Amino acid sequence: MSSGSSVANTPAQQVDALRTQINEHNHRYYVLDAPLVSDAEYDRLMAELMAIEQAHPDLITPESPTQRVGAQPLAAFNSVRHAVPMRSLGNAFDPDDVQAFNKRVFDTLRDAGLAKAEDAVEYVAELKFDGLAVSLRYEGGRLVQAATRGDGQTGEDITSNIRTLRSVPLKLKGDYPEVLEVRGEVLMNRRDFEKLNQAQQRRGEKIFVNPRNAAAGSLRQLDPRITATRPLRFFAYGWGEIRIVHHGQTEMFRQEAGQAGMPRKTHAQMLDWLEALGLPVNGARKLVHGAEGLLAFYTETGAGRAALPFDIDGVVYKVNSLEAQDVLGYVARAPRFAVAHKFPAQEETTRLMGIEVQVGRTGAITPVARLQPVFVGGVTVTNATLHNEDEIRRKDVRVGDTVVVRRAGDVIPEVVGPVLDLRPADTSLFVMPEHCPVCGSAIERAEDEAISRCTGGLFCAAQRKQSLSHAAGRKALDIEGLGEKLVDQLVDSGRVKSLADLFTLTVIELAAYERMGRKSAENLVAALERARTPALGRLLYALGIRHVGETTARDLARHFGSVDAVMAADEASLLQVNEVGPVVAASILRFFAEPHNRDVIAALAAAGVHADAEAAPSGTDLRLAGKTLVLTGTMPNWTRDEATRHILAAGGKVSGSVSRKTAYVVAGEEAGSKLAKAAELGVPVLDEDGLKGLLGVS
Ligand code: IVH
Repeated sequence: MSSGSSVANTPAQQVDALRTQINEHNHRYYVLDAPLVSDAEYDRLMAELMAIEQAHPDLITPESPTQRVGAQPLAAFNSVRHAVPMRSLGNAFDPDDVQAFNKRVFDTLRDAGLAKAEDAVEYVAELKFDGLAVSLRYEGGRLVQAATRGDGQTGEDITSNIRTLRSVPLKLKGDYPEVLEVRGEVLMNRRDFEKLNQAQQRRGEKIFVNPRNAAAGSLRQLDPRITATRPLRFFAYGWGEIRIVHHGQTEMFRQEAGQAGMPRKTHAQMLDWLEALGLPVNGARKLVHGAEGLLAFYTETGAGRAALPFDIDGVVYKVNSLEAQDVLGYVARAPRFAVAHKFPAQEETTRLMGIEVQVGRTGAITPVARLQPVFVGGVTVTNATLHNEDEIRRKDVRVGDTVVVRRAGDVIPEVVGPVLDLRPADTSLFVMPEHCPVCGSAIERAEDEAISRCTGGLFCAAQRKQSLSHAAGRKALDIEGLGEKLVDQLVDSGRVKSLADLFTLTVIELAAYERMGRKSAENLVAALERARTPALGRLLYALGIRHVGETTARDLARHFGSVDAVMAADEASLLQVNEVGPVVAASILRFFAEPHNRDVIAALAAAGVHADAEAAPSGTDLRLAGKTLVLTGTMPNWTRDEATRHILAAGGKVSGSVSRKTAYVVAGEEAGSKLAKAAELGVPVLDEDGLKGLLGVS
């Protein structure tokens, strides 16, 4: 940092170069979503710039990236009158609304001589960001003011806060206009929102209900240093006042004065222009034609909605030609040339009427919210999971609260949190019951677990019912026709107490149950007959041993060959099975130590249930029987899990280290030391295709 002549660059040049680099990295990170450097490298550049500026304070300018946070906390926000009002959009909720919008646009343009009968209107279709509208004012290319939308005429001055957003350029690039008012949305990515909430919780601070609220709360901070810590983003989608100097004269373009005089002729070109000035414009925008094109964009976007990093609440359609926009004009506060096509809301508010608990197959007690029915995410929701006691505490939801309910995609509906402003005086806290509501057994919660459990085991009708349904499932014994309603009746009548009892059911008996005819009774008995000879893995899975999923069950079957052998196994032999660790082994030992579980197995045998030895081969006749393979590097198609599954299915083993006993090393790209080791020991090396050949799969 010498200012001496021995250094080629002067501090002014160094500062300049660093600022350019930092701004470029910001742009790459926030706008292009393609960072070039690590956070650490970015921080290093910032530190270097700060050090030079500290040594040469005269070099500090308001546009320096070090000056994003610097302003003092405010006592209150000043108000700002928008040079051009910030309008809102009309809404379309279904395809008919969109057809009607397109027809109105087309008819008006045709009457004005701007559209011919055979022309479909050209639109730009964009995302409708679920954030907060802001207006940024640049003068001489510098950010001079930022304001919220407010009532559309007057908003609040949030300049110091907006300056902290790294995606907002403090200085425009290229051939910028004299004055530019950019309109866009400030939002928070879902992942950033979740991280923020976790940090808020750790510090005992306010939890936000959704990214939109978090963004709003962050923008309305009087202390910009707080805003600076919040991961806010900005996308530009429009403009207000624009002034360009032409031949030494200032020309002013304002929306009411007409769009046609704008520096570009179409909305799409205007967005490209904003982008070229260094402003973030979201890439998911598209030129489309006619109602058909609009609806296709809606469907496409809806399908990709869950994969977007931020929430959107619909899409926006805008007539592309600015001349056509002028002809269409405005009605009340909304343009006639644009419309918002809303998605079904993913979040709604409703009343929490009560909290009940449900008992799962392993006794896990799940609190369930009983809600005033509410239409959200395209369905009517009356129940939503609250996960567990801690979660209810953490979210501070109480019976009587108005709560936010979320259903995104096909995900199970969830209570997000209470609307505290609407909390009535008489809410009650949830208390975990001490006894199971179904069987009356004690409910216990292990110290290191979040889940409370009913200790009733298979004595508990709820657990019994769920165990039976689990055993009847497609991945287990696959007993077609044994639905939930019938399981309820069979258990409630006392006829079926355990899995073995199912196999003693007769057609005559079954036909007497509600909603069962003779035909379905016969079908069920036939299904039970087929289920009498399951593959051993399926039978082990059907038993519902905790921590024994489908794959572990299959591994156990392959290793031991019979139920008796699994039952007789001690910890040491269980640990030899692929993927079986101490937790799984302990759970298996505990299961078979229970007398009633051993009784069920004896009763199953007595009822003629025998695991099919052929479907659970011992492994000797398989292609990779007795062979150990080592996987290294990345394969072009298969993931490591997939390759492992195929090798296991062929009777082979997968090991993490190469030895003389290794049959093959399967090497993908960037294979490391294992490949060298294979060469050293003379172990044959295969690629993915070689492995597939070995397995006889393509
Ligand atoms: S254009 C004159 N484009 O939706 C029309 N708005 O319901 C100005 N919004 O207040 C709005 N994404 O906050 C436009 N791509 C987008 C948008 C968008 C989100 C918000 C905006 C506006 C509200 C209108």
